[in-house]
Amino acid sequence: MTKKPQKTEKHEIETTGHSWDGIEEFNNPLPRWWLWTFYLTIIWGIGYVIAYPAWPLISGATPGVLGYSTRAEVAADIEEFDTANAGIEAKLVGTELTALSEDPELLQFAANAGRSIFATNCSTCHGSGAAGAKGYPNLLDDDWLWGGDIDAIYATVNHGIRNETDPDARFSQMPAFGEFLSEEEIAQVVNHVMAISGQEADTTLASAGATVFMDNCASCHMDEGTGDREQGAPNLTDAIWLYGGDVDTLTETVSNSRYGVMPNWNTRLSDADVRAVAAYVHQLGGGE
Ligand code: HEC
Ligand code: HEC
Repeated sequence: MTKKPQKTEKHEIETTGHSWDGIEEFNNPLPRWWLWTFYLTIIWGIGYVIAYPAWPLISGATPGVLGYSTRAEVAADIEEFDTANAGIEAKLVGTELTALSEDPELLQFAANAGRSIFATNCSTCHGSGAAGAKGYPNLLDDDWLWGGDIDAIYATVNHGIRNETDPDARFSQMPAFGEFLSEEEIAQVVNHVMAISGQEADTTLASAGATVFMDNCASCHMDEGTGDREQGAPNLTDAIWLYGGDVDTLTETVSNSRYGVMPNWNTRLSDADVRAVAAYVHQLGGGE
């Protein structure tokens, strides 16, 4: 039997009577501050359950006597916001877009509202900074497919492009030339496009391609290849590409054509919102 050194001290404190292999459990009282905090949280908890939505039910929860609801709070916030903006939104709808620049306060409001509308609705395709991606045009530069004055931008956003939901959508369709031209003719016209866009090209192919271009492409892209906004046909002479300017991408575009679609926003956004986002895009840098 070994002597336990703390034996005498231990027995001065009350124990619970539990003992394992000679180790006894002290019955120390809980600290007073701890106990009171504990009681207070119970009281607070009961109060909370009575006052606020708490117990889950099959659909929803017990409502609580205060009738508090986060949804109602959000709805109230939105309503407050809408009422505060109703006047200026009505003014935006009633103002000619071209006259916006004469009213700095209204323009500021439109650009700010437009920025958040853009972030929610447009950035998925055009990028958060509006710099675009393959097939989705950059809206920051002054190269426009359909037009860069504010009325043209408004029309594009309002009705969309090549969608089937708005009969007024902008529409044009480049044929898939793989069906009409031989592989050689396509190689020729591709080299012509490379030449007019300032890239290195096979000169023999390119000069034959000039004829192919006049016969097949100039009706939309114009004789010089500078494009036509009436038809949304891109300028092929600048170094700005919607799909790409290398041989492979050009061959793919010419053989199979593209068919860029943008939804119409007149059914998804209010007129004030469409005007605001058009004003925002217009003042990004490329607006005319
Ligand atoms: C589903 C993808 C998609 C979304 C979302 C989208 N766009 Fe587009 N947008 C396109 C495509 C694709 C084109 C180019 C179509 C073409 O080839 O002519 C385009 C073209 C445009 C153009 C014409 C650019 C030019 O050079 O003429 C404008 C302006 C524009 N979008 C603005 C917007 C705005 C503003 C929004 C948000 C309200 C938006 N887009 C949302 C896909 C989208
Ligand atoms: C009926 C009008 C039309 C004709 C004809 C036409 N195009 Fe196009 N082209 C377009 C349109 C519209 C686009 C825009 C792409 C889209 O559909 O989204 C385009 C796009 C392109 C592009 C993509 C440019 C980029 O920035 O990526 C190239 C390259 C091109 N066309 C070359 C040609 C060549 C070469 C021919 C003749 C063999 C031709 N096109 C004939 C209307 C036309």
